[in-house]
Parts: sequence; C-alpha cells; structure tokens
Amino acid sequence: MIVTTDDLFRQAYGKYAVGAYNINNMEQAIGLFEGNARAEAPFIVQIAKGSRDYAGVIMIENIILAAEKMYPDNIFAVHLDHGDEKTCYDCIESGFYSSVMIDASHESFDENVAITQRISSKAHEKGISVEAELGMLGGVEEDINIDEKHAMLTDPDEAKEFVNMSGCDSLAVAIGTSHGAYKFAGGQGLHFERIGAIQKRIPNFPLVMHGSSSVPKSEVDRINAAGGALDESARGVDEDEFARAIRLGVTKVNIDTDGRLVWTRVHREFFNDHPEVFDFRKPGVIMIEEYARFIEQKSTKLMSAGKLRDMRASVS
Ligand code: G3H
Ligand code: 13P
Ligand code: ZN
Repeated sequence: MIVTTDDLFRQAYGKYAVGAYNINNMEQAIGLFEGNARAEAPFIVQIAKGSRDYAGVIMIENIILAAEKMYPDNIFAVHLDHGDEKTCYDCIESGFYSSVMIDASHESFDENVAITQRISSKAHEKGISVEAELGMLGGVEEDINIDEKHAMLTDPDEAKEFVNMSGCDSLAVAIGTSHGAYKFAGGQGLHFERIGAIQKRIPNFPLVMHGSSSVPKSEVDRINAAGGALDESARGVDEDEFARAIRLGVTKVNIDTDGRLVWTRVHREFFNDHPEVFDFRKPGVIMIEEYARFIEQKSTKLMSAGKLRDMRASVS
C-alpha cells in the first residue's frame, strides 16, 4: 500500500525512524521489499534524478509497481529525492509519487522559502507530502575550523521561520552528516546538541537526516580484498546513534551509499571467486538476498522493525 510520508511520520515521530532507501534497479527493488516484509517495517522508496535518468522514468516507476504487487502487505511511501523545481512538478503531476523533496538549500533563505512555498501549495492540492532542506550538508573536513564547521549546520531559529513560512511537511537538516562513503574525516559524529536545539524550536516536526549510510568497515575491507580500491578512511554514521537522534525528532533516515557497497562487495567477490562465470543472474540472486538482509538489519537499528501492524491500523 502506498501512503504519504506524512502518514508514516505521524506514527513514527519520536519512536522510530522510517528508512528511506534509494533504488535504481530491479534487484534493489526486490531486496528492499523483501527485507522490509521480513522485518515488518514501513519504509520509503526514494528515487533521485540519477535513478530516473539511469533506468528511465517509466521503468523505475513500474519496477516499484511490480514490487508492490509482489509484496501486497508492505506499506511504503514513494518519494522523489533531491528534486529541483521542474522535477517536483513532473512528479506531482504524474500521480505516482506520494511525497517529493524540493532541494533549494543552495539558494538564499528567501528564495528557498519561495520555491518551497510554490511546491507545497501544488503538492498539497493533490495530497502529496513535501520535504524541504535548510543548511549545507556535507563538507565536514578536517582542515575547516570549528566555527566554519558549525556555520554549515542548520540554524535552529532559521529552521523555525522556514517551516512556518514554507509550508513543508518535513525538514532535511544539516547536523554533521554528508553524502557518500567519506563522512567524518576526523573523529566527528552527529551534532546532537544542534538536533536538540532544532527540536526545541520546532517540536513534533519531522526532521530528515540525509547522508545516513554507516559505511561498515567490514564492507570496505571485503571490497578492497576482492580488488576494490576504496580509501581506508571511508566512514559513516554509527548505527547505534540512530536511537538518540530519533528521540530528538529525526524521523526519516536516508540511505543510498550502503546499498551501493552491498552491490559492489557481492559482485567483486562473486567474479573473483568465479572468474569463469558470465551469467549475471548468479551474483544477482546473491545481491537480492544480501540487500534484503541489510534492509532487515537496518530496520532493527532504526527501530521501525515490527511497526507494520500499528501503521496499518493508522492508515486504514
Ligand atoms: O543524495 C543523493 C543520492 O545518493 C542519489 O545519488 O544522484 O547518484 O542517484 P545519485
Ligand atoms: P548516503 O550517501 O549516506 O547513503 O546518503 C544518501 C542520501 O542522503 C540520499 O538522499
Ligand atoms: Zn540526500
């Protein structure tokens, strides 16, 4: 059943986070739906512009529809990740998406508000939820001094003003994470004080944490042992920090990189071990199973595992 992110967040806020996973192909889709079915977890399928370009809009959307038919008991939202204004309108018009993200965080505050207002009014006419972003994600580099580092985080007072003016339903905040495999070059982690300060200004308002992959060292080591050349400094969010972030209002956790690492590890190891094989379905089957296991385990850490029944009661 496709629901809005609003439906999901109403139930989840303060208790668990809904995993939002980027997908690009059929193997990821089956693994995602299978893993969440096993975990009995509500979730968000997210499609970025890169995925729409890679698979094609018709293909990626129909892969999701097919997965819904294969797993009729699952409850999930279909979300556009990091949309620009035009792509948001396309997705709102398409009738397929239940949620869109307008990412105008690179614009001035006023322009970000104005663009988000336009998207919110169009989306809400059709019952679609809107995620916006405020603050500059990423770039937490060792050679930037502390003040500059903090300057990139979302300002709590601005967050309150932004939410009141823009009409968005959830807010992606910069709280120390960055996209990709190389977060936290030094010993940094999530900025809990900042998350807490934002929650104080906008209580009960769902916060979104982008750049939430954990980049397990075991995955990086296995990829490199099988011929990969990932930098040993690759590091992500400590999964055990999710629980604290959830209590502070983080309700959606975005994960893409970890899924790519699963794919890379499975395929590198498979072709290393079986150099004579050219039937791609052999590693494909392993990929689906490994991705399903990854999703199931992640749902436990996000505390969304086992919440399907309550979600069903609240949306039906
Ligand atoms: O945050 C962005 C997602 O990781 C999507 O990545 O643009 O390479 O599809 P992509
Ligand atoms: P990761 O690169 O940490 O997986 O973040 C993904 C993301 O934020 C998608 O919007
Ligand atoms: Zn993101």
